[in-house]
Amino acid sequence: MKANYSGEGQRLKIHKYPDSILKKKSVAVEVFDEGLETLCQNMLHTMYKAPGIGLAAPQIGKSIRLIVLDVDYDRENIKEEDEEPEYQISNLNPYIFINPVITSREGKMMHQEGCLSLPEVFEDVERDEKIVVEYQDLKGEKHTLEADELLSICIQHEIDHLVGILFIDHISQLKRSLYQKKLIKEKKRACKK
Ligand code: CO
Repeated sequence: MKANYSGEGQRLKIHKYPDSILKKKSVAVEVFDEGLETLCQNMLHTMYKAPGIGLAAPQIGKSIRLIVLDVDYDRENIKEEDEEPEYQISNLNPYIFINPVITSREGKMMHQEGCLSLPEVFEDVERDEKIVVEYQDLKGEKHTLEADELLSICIQHEIDHLVGILFIDHISQLKRSLYQKKLIKEKKRACKK
C-alpha cells in the first residue's frame, strides 16, 4: 500500500555505526496515533533529504518496529558541482511498514548495498529474491505485500535493522575488520584537528 508523504517534515539525526542503538532489538508498535504519523512523515523527510531509499526507526534513535522506504523516486542534483548538493525529487512512491514480518522467501540474489548509518561502505550482499511481507499501516490495519528486486532487498535490509543487524554483518569477517580499521584511522585523524 502506497503511503502519503506531505513533502514536509523535520530532518532527524541519523545515528551512525558503531552507535550502540543500531545493535538494539526493536519492540512492536502498539499505539497508532498522530504521533506515529508525524514520526513517519519525519522519517520519510529525513530519508529523502539524506538521500536514501530506506530508513529504519533505530537509525533515528527509536527502537520500534517501523521502516520507511522508496525505491522508485527520481533525484536530480540542482546545485553546481562545487556546492553542497541539493536535490529535486520526483515520482515518489513512499512506503511505510509498521511491525513488518517476512512470511515467505524464495530464491537468492546478490546486490550491492549501502546504508545511511555506514556512509561510504558499499558491499555485495546475498538476499532472498522474492519475499512476502505482512505489516500494518498507520491505522493499524494489516496488509500483505509480495516484493521482488530492489523493493525486496530494501525491505530485508531495513527489517534487519529492527533486530540489530547491519548489512556488513552479512559480509566476510575480513572485510568487516578492514572497515573497522578504516573507521578508527578516520577518528584519530579527526581528533588531531
Ligand atoms: Co541501513
